[in-house]
Amino acid sequence: MLLMRTRSWNNNSFLILCLTGLYLHTNGIMVLIPHHFVSASVDESAILSVEYRCTGVPTIRWRQLSPQGMKSIITWEPGNYQNISESYQDRIQEYRNGSIQLSNVQLYDAGCYVVTVTDKVGSSKDGVIILNINEPVYKDLYFVVVVTTVLFAISILLMFFLWICNQSVELYKMKRRAQSAKAPTDMELSAL
Ligand SMILES: *[C@@H]1O[C@H](CO)[C@@H](O)[C@H](O)[C@H]1NC(C)=O
Ligand SMILES: *[C@@H]1O[C@H](CO)[C@@H](O)[C@H](O)[C@H]1NC(C)=O
Repeated sequence: MLLMRTRSWNNNSFLILCLTGLYLHTNGIMVLIPHHFVSASVDESAILSVEYRCTGVPTIRWRQLSPQGMKSIITWEPGNYQNISESYQDRIQEYRNGSIQLSNVQLYDAGCYVVTVTDKVGSSKDGVIILNINEPVYKDLYFVVVVTTVLFAISILLMFFLWICNQSVELYKMKRRAQSAKAPTDMELSAL
């Protein structure tokens, strides 16, 4: 199903909020982000793509900007060590160029991601990516189908109930007619 509904994370005010929340350096480090807006669907994986230039071995750190502040995702030094946060174990894959792949994304993964490249001297540079999570529309369609089926079943039941009512009324009428046909004979009998 290709129809998607996009969560409204990609508003500019949010990007501005992200950028103002950052301390942007200018030094020998270069952080290049080809796409600042990335979209993925629920249960799919998303690549937060970045490329960097840095003299010496850098430390690369990815964090998510959440209402509680910066949430650490992964920190690594290529060829040395890597430190993945517990909540991201098993669903994070890092690449040589500094990019990460987040698998099995959920709606709560939507938001602002910050990559920080730090060199041995301690200078650093940040980059920002906004991740949108698309919610497949078929979940809503499924709901509509269920509601329609329930309504259809109710209407069938109502029609059946009306039919029963109608039949009872007819039966009652027939009984009354039979009785009133009999009644004069009774009266005649009693008159005698
Ligand atoms: C970095 O590497 C990953 C995995 O090979 C790739 O998907 C991504 O496009 C690369 N990013 C850039 C900016 O080249
Ligand atoms: C890994 O991260 C945790 C929490 O994010 C921190 O307490 C720990 O010191 C880190 N370890 C290394 C080797 O950086």
